[in-house]
Amino acid sequence: MVREAHANEGGGGRQAGQSRHVPVMLQRCLDLLAPALQRPGAVVVDCTLGLGGHSEALLTRFPEAHLVALDRDKEALRLSGERLAPFGERATLVHAVYDELPDVLERLGIARVQGVLFDLGVSSMQLDEADRGFAYAQDAPLDMRMDQTTGISAAEVLNTYPPGELVRILRAYGEEKQAKRIVSAIVREREKEPFDHSARLVELIRNALPQAAKRTGGNPAKRTFQALRIEVNGELSVLERAIPAAVGAIDVGGRIAVLSYHSLEDRLVKQVFAAGAANTAPPGLPVVPERYQPRLKLLTRGAELPTEEEVAENRRAAPARLRGAERIRESIE
Ligand SMILES: C[S@@+](CC[C@H](N)C(=O)[O-])C[C@H]1O[C@@H](n2cnc3c(N)ncnc32)[C@H](O)[C@@H]1O
Repeated sequence: MVREAHANEGGGGRQAGQSRHVPVMLQRCLDLLAPALQRPGAVVVDCTLGLGGHSEALLTRFPEAHLVALDRDKEALRLSGERLAPFGERATLVHAVYDELPDVLERLGIARVQGVLFDLGVSSMQLDEADRGFAYAQDAPLDMRMDQTTGISAAEVLNTYPPGELVRILRAYGEEKQAKRIVSAIVREREKEPFDHSARLVELIRNALPQAAKRTGGNPAKRTFQALRIEVNGELSVLERAIPAAVGAIDVGGRIAVLSYHSLEDRLVKQVFAAGAANTAPPGLPVVPERYQPRLKLLTRGAELPTEEEVAENRRAAPARLRGAERIRESIE
């Protein structure tokens, strides 16, 4: 269910925790979107509100813009509601999965938007709250749902999926080369007792991997946790629908910026942007007719990375990759 709320309906309770979170590549995101948002009545959509860091900066830098901000996590909406309360009716916060953007805009009576931002993945709040089960560094229930009101938990995935399916998930979403070994150990262990907490899984992965595999790539549980999180939240299939939907919602002259945190996300974004920026004419036409002309112009050369200084200040920025594009033409069917 989707609930629209203005920012000042956030309610009381825990503070928004601004100090815990520094928005990633903030200045560059704002600069990329700026030419589209410096006009009265501009609408900018933050598809991943989180703790509201990017949203707050958008509202501050573009005083004539209205913000629509989405998150599938109700706790994120509550905390950001407090943070964005000073902006009153300039911000509309919506509990939704971001591939629902076209429906959300239709309900709000917004035909087209001028800017869209995605800051993908989990928020620092979700990582810091041990009981959400995203972090492998601390023992916690294996949940990992961004929206705790729906769907199945990571523990259910581990305890119920057939072995072949688990191997596929670890390989595809975690790029885990040792998927078979890990899954054999999981299946052996879950028959003794179902998984419910993360420490047992972390320990199992550590024991299942050969010495050489443990020496590279940080915590050996990292790839399995990423894979489970992507599966639990259907992250890639949602993103695959959401990026084209967002491009479709942008007005000519409007802009989109996407921050990805692993190669699977970035590859999807790159493909959608590249397809939009290509002309689709059959080869050999002397003049490319309008209907084959690209509808996007790329604003970043490849993916932009955070500076060394930013990574030194905010280690969560380290894997970030930013891509931007401008809508330059209507689609002609
Ligand atoms: C990295 S955080 C965003 C942080 C935010 N930019 C800030 O400055 O505070 C990503 C947020 O997106 C939300 N999210 C992830 N996937 C989503 C989806 N498919 N639909 C809606 N929200 C999603 C998560 O719940 C999380 O709160």
